[in-house]
Amino acid sequence: MLMKLAITAATALTLSVGGAFANEKIHTESVDFSFEGPFGKYDQNQLQRGLQVYTEVCSSCHGMKFVPIRTLGDEGGPNLPDDQVRAYAAQFEIYDAEKDEMVPRKPSDHFPEGTYDGAPDLSLMAKARKGYEGPYGTGMNQLFRGIGGPEHIVSILNGYTGEEKEEAGTTFYENHAFPGGWIAMPPPLAGEDVEFADGSSNELEHEAIDVASFLMWTAEPKMMDRKKSGFIAVLLLTMLSVLLYATNKRLWAPVKQRAKEETSGES
Ligand code: HEC
Repeated sequence: MLMKLAITAATALTLSVGGAFANEKIHTESVDFSFEGPFGKYDQNQLQRGLQVYTEVCSSCHGMKFVPIRTLGDEGGPNLPDDQVRAYAAQFEIYDAEKDEMVPRKPSDHFPEGTYDGAPDLSLMAKARKGYEGPYGTGMNQLFRGIGGPEHIVSILNGYTGEEKEEAGTTFYENHAFPGGWIAMPPPLAGEDVEFADGSSNELEHEAIDVASFLMWTAEPKMMDRKKSGFIAVLLLTMLSVLLYATNKRLWAPVKQRAKEETSGES
């Protein structure tokens, strides 16, 4: 019995210590995104720049098959005008079974799937990965800073060391932010990869933050609505509490008054 306990304790210890050491190697940058905090909002221009980085760089390998193209016109999102959404959709083709040929996509179609072997779909990536670990898994870090999905993406894009190695015919690139330290994605951004129409900086860090914000939006397009209803709910609950408190006071006032009179009558 004791022996068993000792073994379990030892295993638990090695596992947790091993876990802690493994986490230390992963480096996640902290980024102040516009959409953080209870009143945070997506920055429309930043989403448009992120869309541009995704389209011109990432989409050659990664798909976003869960995202309908029409959502690019959504308020609170990139908010592109209708004609631009239509033009954006039309640059990708899709198979039309009726005509038995490839036709340009419509806004109601989704983004294409990825074509590069092993490149995961990016639609929900910002919520599928976490960047922050709580100290020994208590989750405190995540409670205060969020799960860090977009930070993880920024860190990966910035995390290349320039080292590479080949294993079983695949090239791996050293990356501080990737669990295990070696990633199969060749460094996608080097800085000055795109030319922004609004004259924003196209240094590596800026491009990375813009595309990570865009990917947060694709993963959670209704974040603003959710925050708004949360705020209204808190407001209503506060008002209800005040009302209940006042009603309670009023209901019991005669009883309390009587009790007071009785005690003062006794003395
Ligand atoms: C040359 C093809 C290629 C391009 C271009 C490319 N990627 Fe990747 N990407 C990959 C591959 C392959 C993987 C899988 C890596 C692995 O699992 O080792 C990957 C993985 C990822 C991951 C997941 C990392 C994780 O934690 O599992 C993210 C996020 C990502 N890419 C973002 C991007 C972004 C953003 C861009 C554009 C700036 C981009 N990629 C451009 C091939 C590419």
